[in-house]
Amino acid sequence: MTKKSKKKTWDLVPAPESTSHVNIQSEYGLFINGKFQKSKKGKMYDTINPANEKKIAKITEATKADVDTAVLAAKKAYDNVWSKMTGAERGKYIYRIARILQERAREFAVIESMDGGKPIRESRDIDIPLAANHFFYYAGWADKLDYAFPNQKIKPHGVAGQITPWNFPLLMAAWKIAPALATGNTIVLKPAETTSLTTLLLAEVIQEAGLPPGVVNIVTGHGPVGAHIVNHAKVNKIAFTGSTGVGKYIHNALAGTDKSMTLELGGKGANIIFEDAAIDQAVEGIVNGIFFNQGHVCCAGSRLFVQESIQKEVLKKLKHRISTLIVGDPLDKNTDIGAINSNKQLKVIKDYVKIGQKEGADMYVGEQVLPKKGFWCAPTLFTNVSQSHIISKEEIFGPVLAIQSFRTVAEVIKKANNTPYGLSAGIWTDKGSKLFNMSSQLKAGVIWGNTFNKFDPGSPFGGYKESGFGREGGMHGLADYIKT
Ligand code: NAI
Ligand code: MG
Repeated sequence: MTKKSKKKTWDLVPAPESTSHVNIQSEYGLFINGKFQKSKKGKMYDTINPANEKKIAKITEATKADVDTAVLAAKKAYDNVWSKMTGAERGKYIYRIARILQERAREFAVIESMDGGKPIRESRDIDIPLAANHFFYYAGWADKLDYAFPNQKIKPHGVAGQITPWNFPLLMAAWKIAPALATGNTIVLKPAETTSLTTLLLAEVIQEAGLPPGVVNIVTGHGPVGAHIVNHAKVNKIAFTGSTGVGKYIHNALAGTDKSMTLELGGKGANIIFEDAAIDQAVEGIVNGIFFNQGHVCCAGSRLFVQESIQKEVLKKLKHRISTLIVGDPLDKNTDIGAINSNKQLKVIKDYVKIGQKEGADMYVGEQVLPKKGFWCAPTLFTNVSQSHIISKEEIFGPVLAIQSFRTVAEVIKKANNTPYGLSAGIWTDKGSKLFNMSSQLKAGVIWGNTFNKFDPGSPFGGYKESGFGREGGMHGLADYIKT
């Protein structure tokens, strides 16, 4: 059964962010040894704007030989320069990156929204400032590693291979590059194929900051480029964020080698609302938990558990709130839900929606009018969902919420933990004791109390079970980039 909301989306005057200050080149080479270079044999491909399917720029598909050149540049920079530098000196470079990022924040935000489809409000207020903050945070650690690891002799791994996803392109690059540099590693990083632009712009920043050539290298392209990095004999550590499928491939590829790895994989986060919660705030938290960044969030609150006594009220309020969400132009400051990152991901989401209907769940779709060009998905709720339904088990990575009810604390803990993932959870209650009790029993790396999707460079992030291992952020994030 499909039900549509009766309310129309609010009409607001368009408030598009200006793109006049943005400087995007028509094509980008690979950033190797401090310079942008053409690949000898690699082809170029288009990166497009998912909100209108227009080409933005041409990007290089790196070859195995290019990856080789990049790794050798990183190795040389490690041996000759970066491993010999004091932490205080390294810290200065990282501070410089942070400051230049801040200066160019507006430009980065616009390009992030153009290349990936996320609302400008998010790229402007979350992605870019947080990315700069990660560089500031880890710059501060570079000369204080002895305090982070007292009485231990520590050493960087050497060359770190890093592979990032398309949902938070610049932010994930910052999460990976900043702690690696602070601890004295050099880097070969591959951004996701649909959203490489802000990482290439970050390469410009790195140039401007005067980092020694080869300390950070950026190679672009699709999955096989990532695999070349993973399998390269001179890469000492792999850090990956992306799908569980590729995570398993990397895990197998590195088995029996002495490469160290961190994997940040999928999730199926539980957002749990108790009857004693502030309901209106909780409804905002549900909306933020699943519709933030089009649900392209590994720690999204994609499973909602509502206490039975308030289920009706929460659903009514949630449907009303959904009818007011604005879906459309990512560059418009009023937009709540932007474009789905790619046609491929839109197909994945649509397939899950079909599965949900086939499984017999009740569907409710916001009646927003979707733009004709581009990749879009209206906010979607499923009720009448059971634990065995595929839509309550598998990661959809879109603005689709599976809703279940519960009666007792014990019941909801059991239901929330009944997943192969363990990345995030949210608890909404007026009772601090309930929050503390639950947070020790929920098997999730991050647990938010009366909020959702909040991040801070000082706070470690990572998962349990199939959500991966290793931590990024905070002092813990340093540990994965050193050997003791
Ligand atoms: P993906 O895992 O294929 O892509 C992530 C990164 O890995 C990209 O840079 C990609 O080029 C690279 N990659 C692909 N194959 C590789 C290989 N064999 N070796 C090394 N690197 C490789 O993710 P995809 O296909 O874009 O999305 C599929 C699903 O993954 C999504 O529907 C979502 O459920 C999940 N996902 C989870 C993310 C997270 O933050 N945990 C981020 C992106 C996707
Ligand atoms: Mg793109």
